[in-house]
Amino acid sequence: MGTGIGVTAFGACDEEWKNAVISQLNKLSHTSNLYYTEPCVTLAKLLAEKTGLKKTFFANSGAEANECAIKVARKYYEDKCGKQGVIVTLKNSFHGRTLATLSATGQDKFHELFNPLVSGFVHSTANDFDELKSICSANPVSAIMIEIVQGEGGVNALDKSYVQSVYNYCKENDILLIVDEVQTGNGRTGELYAFMGYDIMPDVVTTAKGLGGGLPIGACMLGEKVKDVLGFGTHGSTFGGNPVAAAGAISIVSRLTDEFLASVKEKGEYLKTNLENADGVESVSGLGLMLGIKTKKPVKEVVNYCLENGVLVLTAKDKLRLLPPLNIKQEELEKAISVIKNALK
Ligand SMILES: Cc1ncc(COP(=O)(O)O)c(C=O)c1O
Repeated sequence: MGTGIGVTAFGACDEEWKNAVISQLNKLSHTSNLYYTEPCVTLAKLLAEKTGLKKTFFANSGAEANECAIKVARKYYEDKCGKQGVIVTLKNSFHGRTLATLSATGQDKFHELFNPLVSGFVHSTANDFDELKSICSANPVSAIMIEIVQGEGGVNALDKSYVQSVYNYCKENDILLIVDEVQTGNGRTGELYAFMGYDIMPDVVTTAKGLGGGLPIGACMLGEKVKDVLGFGTHGSTFGGNPVAAAGAISIVSRLTDEFLASVKEKGEYLKTNLENADGVESVSGLGLMLGIKTKKPVKEVVNYCLENGVLVLTAKDKLRLLPPLNIKQEELEKAISVIKNALK
């Protein structure tokens, strides 16, 4: 029920993904991103067609995809205003463990041992639009960066009205909207990307985890406004866009059809309804197959019981976090629910 922290979207050793990877491995395993490869181009095209964003920079992880987004925002502002801007991120967010993404992360516990942090980030309270506006009035803001569902922060979905206000404010004030879909992306919430359920169009969307299906890949997708901000020599990656990882990612993204996404929503509802009414549950949060359960018992006890009974689960703060395979079979879901229910009692 954890998919290696949201990575093996179609389960461990999924046949279709495995065949795509092996077939590419037999052709070409690495070129560096000095050259385009067929899988890398096909994947970029697929993502553009499905999202409406224009260009993708491929990296190797979520943190690296976010590093790219941060660089795009900084350079966009420098090019436009001739001075440095700041990026507003949300309190309780999580954006990665590199120094810049750690600094972007709005949780002190991730900062404590790693000072000095990278400057240029201001944190605003999630769902508080007035606070966000006052921060933007007082600072030279290049971008606002959000997760639609704060994953590591406790699986909390942002309010739709707040996200739409942020989107409109960004448009009106030429502030870039960056959506970090490292965890929420690639079908996890029942949408291809979670922003699609919020009726907004971000300038930058980052993703990783489920995109790779089991091999490391990160993607920073860039919309019309920013697609050419990073020119030759301003960014790069030796391993980024690796053809084997990209071939696996194509096999994932091409299966995320509307029909399949509807089944993710259905399974998510089934899981949520079953757990909401179970003994030992205070509340269930999240979207699709990305759920957080506030337990009456200490969460560690629940995790250990599940582990002893053959069900791997995750935590997020003091909650139980579930990120099952998107194609989980009904009988597997039922078995997991029964073990988790026993663990919660
Ligand atoms: C929203 C979000 N952003 C960024 C990251 C960092 O991704 P990675 O561990 O692949 O660097 C994570 C990882 O949990 C995440 O949930």
